[in-house]
Amino acid sequence: MKSSFHGLLLPFRKMKGNSQVLLLLLLLDVLPFFPPLQCLVSATNNGLLAEVWLEASSGSYVAKFNIGTPPQSKLLLLDIAQNSMLLQCRRSGISDVPRGPLVTGDSATFRSIAGKTGAAKKGMQLALDTFTFNTTDGVNPGLSDVKVEGMEFFCSPRRLTNAGVVGLGPGRLSPLLQLAARRHLPRHFAYCLSGVDQAPTPLFLLASNYTFMPMFQIGASLLHTPLLKRTKTMPGYRVGLKSISIGSRVLSINPKDLRGGLEISTTEPYTKLVSAAYTTLVREFRRLHNGIPRVKPPAGTPFDTCFNASGLGVTRVGPPVNQIDFVLGDGTVWIFFGWNSMVFLSEDVMCLGFLNAGTPPARSILGTFQQRDSLVEVDLEANRLGFYPTLSFIHTSCANFNFTRSSF
Ligand SMILES: *[C@@H]1O[C@H](CO)[C@@H](O)[C@H](O)[C@H]1NC(C)=O
Ligand SMILES: *[C@@H]1O[C@H](CO)[C@@H](O)[C@H](O)[C@H]1NC(C)=O
Ligand SMILES: *[C@@H]1O[C@H](CO)[C@@H](O)[C@H](O)[C@H]1NC(C)=O
Ligand SMILES: *[C@@H]1O[C@H](CO)[C@@H](O)[C@H](O)[C@H]1NC(C)=O
Repeated sequence: MKSSFHGLLLPFRKMKGNSQVLLLLLLLDVLPFFPPLQCLVSATNNGLLAEVWLEASSGSYVAKFNIGTPPQSKLLLLDIAQNSMLLQCRRSGISDVPRGPLVTGDSATFRSIAGKTGAAKKGMQLALDTFTFNTTDGVNPGLSDVKVEGMEFFCSPRRLTNAGVVGLGPGRLSPLLQLAARRHLPRHFAYCLSGVDQAPTPLFLLASNYTFMPMFQIGASLLHTPLLKRTKTMPGYRVGLKSISIGSRVLSINPKDLRGGLEISTTEPYTKLVSAAYTTLVREFRRLHNGIPRVKPPAGTPFDTCFNASGLGVTRVGPPVNQIDFVLGDGTVWIFFGWNSMVFLSEDVMCLGFLNAGTPPARSILGTFQQRDSLVEVDLEANRLGFYPTLSFIHTSCANFNFTRSSF
């Protein structure tokens, strides 16, 4: 580990100046407000913005994209591990070729791309259409939309669960790379997932300032860790995982078992750990919390360690349980407080929200529950992951992005 400094302030050790002191004060809940971290200046080369919603029925996260002419909003499954975009297109008449545009309505700008079908996945037709985005200065959406023409995607001949899937991997057909090339902006994106389905949260494309009300600009406060090389069997974004601790106690896990690293997923609901890490984590977690009455996991839940949380109380960062630290490739630590480790199944039943991934080649995957209210950035220019864990720590949340248009 790079730092010998343990405790609550660890994830924020890279913050500048007095912020550690401020955070300590915040923890003690004595500051009535938090001053803006930096002055904001608007620039002309703004990034793009899309809304992300939690679909309560499925637990999936979907991004709202506006596709076609005139634009139609479509909710596409957000899957950062995929390398392209897949949309539900309509079959027309006797032809088996999917014809545009999407499931409903018509688009004047839809074109299927003939001759490129060799590159297409089995049974998928490559097509293109115009996409419309909000711009963002990182604080608000801008007054006018931008149209991006000729965005390429695959048309699915089969019915999809959602209107489609938006991948944000580094492949040639990734919408991220297509947008970066057309807008001449760096290839990075960031998302923030909420645990509630009532409000949209931001997906920043090619932007770099991430500001949440009341004016917390966190872009400069992210922690970083290098991305690992993608492989055929592990195509998602992965980072190194060196060790895991609970309450600053390092779990004894053979480093060999962690060799596959940790994939960052926007589709797995809960973090999965390889068996060796999972069993050690559960054993130690149970031992450390033997003062909290255990309850039998209710039927139908994937969890095996549940507690009676009545009378336990709650802090700003969730129920008061020991923090779980993932020490990433270069020693950067991602801390999970109760908010991101304990799943409430009812008012008084909470379960440890980690699952067993099995033995390698199964790999550890960071699920969406553990990323709730954290800002996560993938930066393909610097080839690194950036993150800011637990926005509630600074009294804000993913749903606190200001979606009101501003004049720039
Ligand atoms: C982002 O913030 C930095 C630092 O405040 C500023 O220099 C830059 O112009 C901002 N960029 C945008 C697009 O607003
Ligand atoms: C842009 O943002 C406004 C305000 O949030 C929203 O009403 C509109 O639908 C968005 N447009 C696009 C193209 O995303
Ligand atoms: C949890 O404990 C409280 C108080 O002891 C009790 O009333 C409640 O029934 C318990 N709940 C479960 C699910 O065991
Ligand atoms: C949201 O942004 C708009 C436009 O800049 C601004 O007028 C409004 O005060 C902001 N809302 C909050 C709660 O900061």
